[in-house]
Amino acid sequence: MFSNGRAGSIPAFGTIQAEYLSCKFNSGNTLSVLYYGPPLHILSFLELLHPKITVIMSSEPTKILLTEDEMPRQWYNIQADLPSPLPPPVGPDGKPIGPDALAKVFPMNLIEQEMSTERWIDIPDEVQSILKLWRPSPLYRARRLEAALQTPAKIYYKNEGVSPAGSHKPNTAVAQAWYNKQFGIKHLITETGAGQWGSALAMSCKLIGIDCKVFMVRISFDQKPFRKIMMRTWGADCIASPSDQTAVGRRILSEMPDTPGSLAIAISEAIEQAVERDDTRYALGSVLNHVMLHQTIIGLEARKQLEKVNLYPDIVIGCAGGGSNFAGISFPFICDKIHGREVKIIATEPEACPTLTRGPYVYDSGDVAKMTPLLPMHSLGHGFIPPAIHAGGLRYHGMAPLVSHVKQLGLIDATSIGQTECYEAALLFAHTEGFIPAPETSHAIAQTIREARQAKEEGKEKVILMNWSGHGLMDLQGYDAFLSGKLSDYPLPEELLQQSLCALKDHPPAPQM
Ligand SMILES: Cc1ncc(COP(=O)(O)O)c(C=O)c1O
Repeated sequence: MFSNGRAGSIPAFGTIQAEYLSCKFNSGNTLSVLYYGPPLHILSFLELLHPKITVIMSSEPTKILLTEDEMPRQWYNIQADLPSPLPPPVGPDGKPIGPDALAKVFPMNLIEQEMSTERWIDIPDEVQSILKLWRPSPLYRARRLEAALQTPAKIYYKNEGVSPAGSHKPNTAVAQAWYNKQFGIKHLITETGAGQWGSALAMSCKLIGIDCKVFMVRISFDQKPFRKIMMRTWGADCIASPSDQTAVGRRILSEMPDTPGSLAIAISEAIEQAVERDDTRYALGSVLNHVMLHQTIIGLEARKQLEKVNLYPDIVIGCAGGGSNFAGISFPFICDKIHGREVKIIATEPEACPTLTRGPYVYDSGDVAKMTPLLPMHSLGHGFIPPAIHAGGLRYHGMAPLVSHVKQLGLIDATSIGQTECYEAALLFAHTEGFIPAPETSHAIAQTIREARQAKEEGKEKVILMNWSGHGLMDLQGYDAFLSGKLSDYPLPEELLQQSLCALKDHPPAPQM
């Protein structure tokens, strides 16, 4: 009846000129007709002919783009709009710590940003010029995914996988490297889980002109050899954690020689080395307020892009490890929500590491050796070692204080999903939209698919905005395991969670809202 391609013909109506026209029989004997081109209302009659025919018609572009001049010039600081202020970081005695307590770990210009409550903070010109290598990032309409799901929902995804390192992480890595250089720092040390953050910082340090060293969680170091090579290509030193280079690494190796490692261990190793020298500091790829701030460029761009097609999202979705890409896409919309706009905002995490959904809101340390101050956050306990799931970047025991706070305030929802559902979602995405997502990103896709199916059940044309946090081209081992039927789910057993939380007995209680 129809041809696939630029033009098609319906016997009764003659030839139709279209950007794309296809027709597909689905399981359940339904027929979907996908049409992009000038509005052609005659196609709607097809739906009247038979209840099992769905017509998806659009003249809207597949990618909504911004020019470089339209790129935001300021980051958005949600601290200016919170209905109640964020509780401060505290020391072991429960007393708030001041900026000086962080001075050996971070440069003072970033500590000031960490504590700032200014609503808008200028993005320095040099940072903007580097971000322009890949920003503004495109906002895609996922029409083919919509068609496969036969959903009335409109699905948009912000593609952060277009950055040189392949994810959203360079948005903050460039800024952090720049502020450190301004402060006179010559070396940055960090940790990395999946390798996305380590490679983002390695690239940024090279572009800005400082040295970089990365402690990479052992399981990812073994699973993702090409990430190591990327870091080395950008001139960084990459070491498996736990390592024998630090006291904390040596202690953990003697207690658990076969440990897969964790972000909390790698953070301890990186901080231990960073504080040893005056010209060296530590950089963190998530969790802290200034990291959330730098990522808001994602949501600010997405909001402008949707305005171009006269839309506002009903639902905003991001995956959450330490919380930064979720904060990036959602904080500008949470600002709107605080000021009365209706929007549902969902953070999605792994069932194996369910920080927001099952971790209590407590004061906990960001690392295993308790070198960081105590932060008010949802946590599974700083000693928690998550199972070796493939979404390495979501294997963190804590959640950003700002994300935890907006959850406490009821401004966001959270869900957890098993890795097999996520890989199924990733495959459907790759089969329809082409791009292969990072395993972390697949959590946002799985939640988006759940919401799109719900919209279908309810017959509602919801607008869903998802952050597509990175590509999975360096994560193909996980796909291989899934395609060979070797992956299973690891819902976290309650006893393990309770055991891990015992370590928090002596911590001061976090303020409950
Ligand atoms: C592609 C990708 N998405 C998401 C995450 C999770 O981190 P965050 O919650 O800070 O965005 C990571 C972390 O490495 C990642 O690499």
